[in-house]
Amino acid sequence: MKTKTDVLLGLQWGDEGKGKIVDVLTPSYDIVARFQGGPNAGHTIEFGHKKFVLHTIPSGIFNRRAINVIGNGVLIDPFVFDREIDSLSSSGVDITANVLISRKAHLILPTHRLLDAVYEKAMGKEKIGSTLKGIGPAYTDKTARKGLRVGDLDLPDFDKRYRKVRSQHLKLISLYDVDFKNIEIEGMSFEIYEKRWLEKLKRLQQFKKTDSEYYLNEALAQGKKILAEGAQGTMLDVDFGAYPFVTSSSTTTAGVCSGLGIPPSKVGEVFGIFKAYCTRVGSGPFPTELFDETGEKLREKGQEFGATTGRPRRCGWLDLPALKYAIMLNGVTELKMMKADVLSGFPEIKIATHYKINGQLTEKVPFGAEKENTEVVYKTFEGWNESLEEMTDFDNLPKQLKTYIQFIESEVEIPIRLVSVGPNRKETIIR
Ligand code: GDP
Ligand code: IMO
Ligand code: MG
Repeated sequence: MKTKTDVLLGLQWGDEGKGKIVDVLTPSYDIVARFQGGPNAGHTIEFGHKKFVLHTIPSGIFNRRAINVIGNGVLIDPFVFDREIDSLSSSGVDITANVLISRKAHLILPTHRLLDAVYEKAMGKEKIGSTLKGIGPAYTDKTARKGLRVGDLDLPDFDKRYRKVRSQHLKLISLYDVDFKNIEIEGMSFEIYEKRWLEKLKRLQQFKKTDSEYYLNEALAQGKKILAEGAQGTMLDVDFGAYPFVTSSSTTTAGVCSGLGIPPSKVGEVFGIFKAYCTRVGSGPFPTELFDETGEKLREKGQEFGATTGRPRRCGWLDLPALKYAIMLNGVTELKMMKADVLSGFPEIKIATHYKINGQLTEKVPFGAEKENTEVVYKTFEGWNESLEEMTDFDNLPKQLKTYIQFIESEVEIPIRLVSVGPNRKETIIR
């Protein structure tokens, strides 16, 4: 085995800027592979005057040379996928030649979307704040061994299988006190949406399908370079996030092995990406959340509105205990800090260094949402006013920002090798 697979994944609650950095790194790779999640992801890429948001397609797609693999761990919704292809091709990006889809990737069915909506409605105030893309129900079916996979589309009895699962879902929905006839999917009634969805299967069938575990391991044997692209973030991991306010997949490095069929011994560098502050969209604990003007200013300056749902993101200061937890779980070898430019113009900037739970100081992320008993301990840093736009050299960054970066590095003992100072591909400082 000549090469290893490098990994780039989010260390916070998603939306760290994974899409941007995968795009920046792609010229050094032959293959970019998504290993988990589905259209709940929204990965933004900007270059020149163009901006794209990807949901299912890996962020290596703008480099003509790279092959983009949708791995077995990913969920595909043929409807969302089709719309994504259309929006790319209307901008002149033809993806048919450069995308390979695992036969083992599971399909998100229209009734998964319904189930997601019904479960959330039934939970009322306790809802997860799901993106309503059908993620939870589709992964549930995968582990319950009832799911349908991309490879199943080739089976002569696919239609029969689809009808069977569909009718099971509708039975399940009837148990809930929710009138599903009023639920819209992508602005359509269920019947109309399902009709469209079934039409889109043909488009999906035009793509090259592969046994991606063989494809990727053979590529490694030939010395090809692979970058695995994470979706969501470590703090949304189904095991390690603040359950149940999580997504339904393994968002950590462990997910690379199961989601692509790459053995642990063939994982190379692990690039952990984090914002210089924190954001979260959806419900669930967020210890450093700011409910004041400072939080509002972060949201405005950082344009913190969801790339998939448009929801405003909750904003707060950097959470060091959570960052250390994520670095530990992923075996991060190198850090990349995003959105440093957003912090320009704040008189002071804080970092949470500890939690105080029931009066006890700790650096460990607590079991659940013990918000009432949790106090956050901060260290305060002097801010800076200089705009970071146009900055290309680490040495020229404001000294207060360098102090901020050095403090984080000294705490986590992992180098920050990249500082991002704007959404555009070129607004990236590599140390
Ligand atoms: P992803 O899901 O991790 O790929 O991240 P998203 O695309 O959902 O959210 C990141 C947002 O921040 C996008 O709108 C990016 O264009 C933007 N962005 C990325 N890096 C930077 C940066 O360094 N500075 C600023 N101001 N915006 C950035
Ligand atoms: P990217 O890849 C931010 C959040 C949802 C919700 C929880 C569960 O763009 O970083 P789900 O739809 O998965 O059942 O929702 O997870 N969530 C994300 N938050 N970025 C994402 O993806 C997310 N994908 C899911 O808001 O709180
Ligand atoms: Mg996103």
